[in-house]
Amino acid sequence: MPSPDQFAAAAHALAAGALVVFPTETVYGLGANASDDVALRRVFQTKGRPSDHPLIVHLATPADLDHWSASTPPSAVALAEAFWPGPLTLLVPRARHVLDTVTGGRPTVGLRVPSHPVAHAFLARFAEIVPHGGVAAPSANRFGAVSPTEAVHAKAELLPFLHDGDLIIDGGASTVGLESTIVDCSVNPPMILRHGAVTAEMLGVVTDLQDAAGPSRAPGMLASHYAPRCAVIAVADRSHADRVAVEAVGPVEVLDYGIDVDAMAHGLYASFRAADARGVQSLIVVLPPESGLGRAIRDRVTKASADRPVPN
Ligand code: TXA
Ligand code: MG
Repeated sequence: MPSPDQFAAAAHALAAGALVVFPTETVYGLGANASDDVALRRVFQTKGRPSDHPLIVHLATPADLDHWSASTPPSAVALAEAFWPGPLTLLVPRARHVLDTVTGGRPTVGLRVPSHPVAHAFLARFAEIVPHGGVAAPSANRFGAVSPTEAVHAKAELLPFLHDGDLIIDGGASTVGLESTIVDCSVNPPMILRHGAVTAEMLGVVTDLQDAAGPSRAPGMLASHYAPRCAVIAVADRSHADRVAVEAVGPVEVLDYGIDVDAMAHGLYASFRAADARGVQSLIVVLPPESGLGRAIRDRVTKASADRPVPN
């Protein structure tokens, strides 16, 4: 755990316009003061991301939900109460002060209170400097690449693009390992836009949902995304994997976590990176069942495998 001095330094750097890479329980984020238009523009440049893809605003406390939302839908209040702090992003009607750079001009803003102790300490320190302050942060990877689940991954992705004064906080490996669940609470009933560790089953206990089993719809969730350099081939079971492996060209590996979906979520992106580092050309991934956390994993693996030419 970084020291209080380090949190203070990072929070002051952020308030002064720097970018800060910080850990969360899902993945590492590339943070900017959500009320600083110049710093926000640097987030898009640093990632190489189109400027109309909205950013999630990270808050220290659920009490700040009302500061960032124009009118908080009852579903958002109930979901925040049940799952914050945690790996859940809520889309709510944006408050007037929320910048277009954050929302991509949309009428909603995505809000999340992370549970990671380092993220919390950093956000809380920042909110002492900027009252109700939020930290806008996409995943700390270059656009289209795999999200970082360790500080060293974020460094490898972004160090060449960071400036003097920007900081990277190392908080160890992200426990969940997949990006947050996104629920659009501006519609009634709410709709899941991206599956994650707060599963459809868990959400369904708190609120009605529409199209809970549908494909991801968040803008920026392109068909091909979260992709390593190697070709990802998704298969239903181990025997299928072994048959495909025999026919695959070049160095090939099979990724099979068995029934342990928590371990698979936690390790998936690191496995993608490790496969690339070993020069693997074809990574055959055995998919988990399509329920609970398995849905989020299948979503990411499918996107990693979409339309990827086998590299040579
Ligand atoms: O777990 C996470 O959510 C991580 C950590 C850092 O919190 N963040 C993350 O951010 O994954 P990013 O930018 O890589 O993915 C956020 C997704 C994008 O597809 C974006 O388009 C969508 O959320 N999004 C954010 N705000 C939105 C809004 N107001 N309306 C629709 N989609 C939104
Ligand atoms: Mg991302």
